[in-house]
Amino acid sequence: MNFNELSYIHMKKCLNDPIFNIISQVGESEKTLVFVIGGFVRDVLLKRLSKDIDIVALGSGINIAEKVAQKLGPKVKVSIFKNFGTAMLRHGDYEIEFVGARKESYRQNSRKPIVENGTLEDDQNRRDFTINALAISLNKNDYGKLIDPFDGEQDLKDKLIRTPLNPDRTFSDDPLRMFRAIRFSSQLKFTIEEKTYKSISKNKERIKILSEERIVDELNKIILSPKPSIGFKALENTGLLGEFFPELQELKGVDKKNGKAHKDNFYHTMEVVDNVRNKTDNLWLLWAALLHDIAKPITKRYSEEVGWTFHGHEHIGAKMIPSIFKRLKLPLNEKMKYVQKLVQLHLRPIVLSQDIVTDSAVRRLLFDAGDEIDDLMLLCDADITSKNEYTVKEYLNNFKIVRKKLIEIEEKDALRNFQPPISGELIIETFNIKPCKTVGDIKNAIKEAILEGEIRNEYNEAYAFMIKKGQELGLKTIE
Ligand code: CTP
Repeated sequence: MNFNELSYIHMKKCLNDPIFNIISQVGESEKTLVFVIGGFVRDVLLKRLSKDIDIVALGSGINIAEKVAQKLGPKVKVSIFKNFGTAMLRHGDYEIEFVGARKESYRQNSRKPIVENGTLEDDQNRRDFTINALAISLNKNDYGKLIDPFDGEQDLKDKLIRTPLNPDRTFSDDPLRMFRAIRFSSQLKFTIEEKTYKSISKNKERIKILSEERIVDELNKIILSPKPSIGFKALENTGLLGEFFPELQELKGVDKKNGKAHKDNFYHTMEVVDNVRNKTDNLWLLWAALLHDIAKPITKRYSEEVGWTFHGHEHIGAKMIPSIFKRLKLPLNEKMKYVQKLVQLHLRPIVLSQDIVTDSAVRRLLFDAGDEIDDLMLLCDADITSKNEYTVKEYLNNFKIVRKKLIEIEEKDALRNFQPPISGELIIETFNIKPCKTVGDIKNAIKEAILEGEIRNEYNEAYAFMIKKGQELGLKTIE
C-alpha cells in the first residue's frame, strides 16, 4: 500500500467521528457547502493527533455553527466572534471553529486583514502553506474528497514547507508566517523550499509589526520541538533572529588571535539545547539552556597567557535575563527566577568536577541550588559538549561522583531546602541580647559550620555550636 492509500484509509477513519456527519447534514439542510480545512487535514494525513477542527462554509459559518450546536443538544454553547465572522463550539475533546470562506487583502502596516466573502479557492489561496491549505469535502456528493489545489499532499510526502502563492505576498500579508514556516520545519523536520526560504530573508524586517507575544508563542513551539536547533539555525540563517533577539545572534562567530580561537557559542548553545530537549520537555529548563552563555560576548577577553576567557559570564548572564524576559513578554515571575538561578549556577557542578570533589563543596552546591539541583545537574551534563572525547568522559565520570555525593549528603543533612536549625529569636533569648548584627553573625557561623561539615544539620549539634560561638564572642547565657 502506498502513502496515498494508507492516508485515505486513515482519513476515512478520522471522518468516521459522528460530528463530521452532523456538520455534513447541517450543510445540506442549510444549502451551504462545508469543508474541513487547514491544520486538521494536514495532521490527519501525517497521522498526528489534532484536537482543533476548522470548518469553512461557503456561506455563513456562524449559522452552520448554531445549527450544529442545536443538533448536538441544549447544553452546547457557541461562542460567536461577530467581528471576525467566526464561531466556535466544543464537542468532546474537539474544539471546532466555523468560518465563512473568505478572500483577504492586507494593508502594509497591519496584520488586520480586509475581509470579503470568497470561494473555497480564495480561502485556500490566502493560507500560509500548501500543507495547511488542504481541504476535505463534507458534502453529500463527494464526502471525504481531498481538495488540494497546490499539491500539498505531495509536499507532505516530500516533507516540504512551501507557500501556495508567491512567498513575498504570503509573508508580507502576515509576517508571523515566517516564524510559522520555521516552526513547522522544526516540529515536523521538514525542509523549507528554497524560494520560500529566501523570501523570509528578504522580508525579515516586516516582523516589526508583530507583537512579541505572538513571536514568543512560535519561539516556545520551536524550543519544544524534537530538535530545537533546526528552528534556531533557520532563524539565524534567514536573519530573523537578529531582528528580535540580538543577544542570541551575538553568540555566533569565532574570534582568533595568535592562532588561538574560542568555540562558536551559538552552535555550542544549540548543542546544549538539543541535549536538554532529549531529556526533558520542561520549557523553562530549555530557556535556561538557551540563555546559559548569553553573556559570553560581553565578557569575552583575550590575554597572551590564558587565551580567551569569559569571566563572570554566569553572573552577568543572570542579570541580563529580566530585561530579555521583559522585552519578549515572557513571565517575570518565579519562572524567570528559576531561569536566572540556573544560569547563575551553571558552572558550579563543572568547576566542582574539575577538582577533588569534597563534601563541603557538594554541600554548598546543594544549599545554593535547593530544589533546582536535579535540573541544574541535567543542564550541566548537557553543557559538556567538548569535541575531545577523553575530556567528556573524564568530566562525566567526575559528574557521577558529584551526583553520588549529592545523594549521600542530602540523605544525611537534608540541605535541599535549608531551614536554619537555630532561629534568631533563640539566639536573642539564650544570650539575653537585643536584636543586633551579632545575632546574624552567629546564625551565619552555624550555617557555615554545617556546610563545612563541622556539625550536622540538626538542633542539638547546632545548639551546642551556638553556645560555643557566643562564648567566643564574650556573650553569657542566662542561667
Ligand atoms: N493560517 C494561516 N496563516 C496564519 C495562521 C494560520 O494561513 N498566520 C491558516 C492555516 O491554514 C492553518 C489554519 O489557519 O492551518 C489554522 O491555524 P492554526 O490553528 O494557528 O495552526 P495549525 O496549522 O492548526 O497548526 P498549530 O495548531 O500547530 O498552530
